Formats: sequence, structure tokens, C-alpha cells
Amino acid sequence: MPTGLIAALDTTDAAQAQRWANAVAPHCGLLKLGLEFFLAHGAEGLRGITQRPIFLDLKLHDIPNTAAGGVRAVLPLRPAMLTLHASGGAAMIGAARKEAEKAGAERPILLAVTVLTSMDTEALHSIGVAGGPRQQVLRLARLALDAGADGLVCSAQEVAMLRDALGDGPTLVVPGIRPAGADIGDQSRVMTPTDAARAGASWIVVGRPITQASNPAQAAAAIAAELGAAA
Ligand code: C5P
Repeated sequence: MPTGLIAALDTTDAAQAQRWANAVAPHCGLLKLGLEFFLAHGAEGLRGITQRPIFLDLKLHDIPNTAAGGVRAVLPLRPAMLTLHASGGAAMIGAARKEAEKAGAERPILLAVTVLTSMDTEALHSIGVAGGPRQQVLRLARLALDAGADGLVCSAQEVAMLRDALGDGPTLVVPGIRPAGADIGDQSRVMTPTDAARAGASWIVVGRPITQASNPAQAAAAIAAELGAAA
């Protein structure tokens, strides 16, 4: 399977999100809208941006009943993908999956976030996690998949390890991507689209290299072409 391209439209400005969506949608498999847009504009705002299924990146984390309620609340938007925190535990993930199943064949792909890339070993120790990030990522990845997640959001540094450990089954979605020569912004460890594809990414998520380009459509088209060539 060739690696797909997801454009992250990170803004609270609905008009801006609309312009970006119009420009890049023809070159992307999916558009990602996250917490900042959803909190600012809600379901109606989201429907206004595109009628196509989107990647709704809300990173749900709550007791099972409430997380399932969150899934239920967004199912009418027909998201293609939905995120939740693996650290919410097996019962939460199982409840989310059970609720998602109610959408039948159109159910969203559930992606678990393992360890936030902003957490290093020291930060993990401070919240009571003894091992390092890689151990914790793998532990939470296995827990999430066993509990009903379809895949994982993982960093470029983790994708090869997870593909090796977990096989071809799980959907692996990888942010922190920079085309060769691009400004890395606040992402500290990045990977090119080609390298991420070769490491086993099912999808890559690209934000600023597309949205901040002088021509977002062209930037998205170039990344899509690179992924096509890497396949
Ligand atoms: O602009 P940039 O390409 O860095 O955007 C990456 C997108 O992926 C953003 O929406 C960001 O929130 C998201 N993301 C990330 N790192 C993670 C998880 C999500 O950059 N570990």
C-alpha cells in the first residue's frame, strides 16, 4: 500500500481553514482538523469546511462511558479517523471501539496516541513511568491494539520499531514530517516523506510545510508525488 498524505489544517480561523482545504484537498487522502478548530467552531464549523470524511484529532481521554459518549457525539460527522489516548486504558479504548462499531462499515479508524512526543524520559519519570519513551510507546501500543484500536499515531523515530514489533496490520500515522530542505519549525526530530514511507508509515501528517508554503496546493502536490515515487 502506498503511504497516504494527510494535511493538518491547524488554525482557529475558519476562512483560512477553508482556503487551505480547497487548495490541498485534491492532493491529499485526508484533511486533519484538531482540537483548536473543533473547540472554536464545533461540528457545524467542521461541516462547513468539507463534506469529505476527515481525520478528527481530538485525542479523547476520559472514563470509558464519557469517551464512548464523545465518539457517539462525533459519529454523525462521519470522521474517517479519530484519535484517543492509549493511556486511558483498555476499558476506555474498548468502550470507544464498541461505540464506533455502531457506525457499521463507515466507522472511523480509531488511532491511539501512545506517549506525547513532548514527553522525554525525565518527564515520564515525573509522572511515575519507570521506563524510557520507547518502552512505554511499545507497551501502550500493544495495549491499545489489543483493546480495539486500529492503529497508532507515532513519531518518525518510532515507526520502524513499531512496524517491526507489530507487523503489517496496524495503521501507523506519522507526524513530524519535513520534505528535504524544509524549515523544521518546533519539531525537533523529523523525517522526510520518503524515509517515513520506507520505515512503514501508512499515512504521514504534514502541517506547516504545506499551510505555510507560498503555494499550499503545489507543496501538497509535491509531497504526494514524492510518496508516489517512494512506493
Ligand atoms: O506543522 P507540522 O507539520 O509540524 O504539524 C504536525 C501535525 O501533527 C500537527 O497537527 C501536530 O499537532 C501533530 N502532531 C505532532 N506530533 C505528535 C502528534 C501530533 O506534530 N506527536
